[in-house]
Amino acid sequence: MAAATLVMAQAYAATDAQAEKIAERIKPVGEVCVGAECGGAAVAAAEPRSGEEVYGAACSACHGAGILGAPKNGDKAAWDERLAKGMDATLKNAISGINAMPPKGNCANCSDDELLAAIKFMSGR
Ligand code: HEC
Repeated sequence: MAAATLVMAQAYAATDAQAEKIAERIKPVGEVCVGAECGGAAVAAAEPRSGEEVYGAACSACHGAGILGAPKNGDKAAWDERLAKGMDATLKNAISGINAMPPKGNCANCSDDELLAAIKFMSGR
């Protein structure tokens, strides 16, 4: 009981500055979109992510350590071998998947350009 009273007293003691911070923190909840209007427009309007960003978010899990035979990030020789068939063909494989490499590297919302940027980042091209 005493503890509960103390907690309440602290809550009421929040300053205006703290209240503003709290308002700021909970604000995005009101901005979350629901339904069909989400996604498409918002994603299309977003700036394309850099190769490094895409790599970090979607590719590093496998391409960081070379899991399952994935050519490692920055391993020029491994990437040269892959890219010998041409960037277009390599990108196509990344889009449709090849062996243990899942389609788009599991990055469902990655555009072709973002995948290309990630390949360029990993291969140092
Ligand atoms: C689940 C693990 C995994 C993830 C995540 C993953 N890859 Fe891969 N990737 C692989 C493996 C394994 C291979 C080698 C496949 C093979 O040739 O047998 C590969 C091969 C590739 C190749 C070479 C294809 C070719 O033609 O030789 C490219 C390009 C590639 N990945 C791009 C990406 C990109 C870009 C991402 C992130 C968006 C990504 N990968 C995420 C596992 C992964």
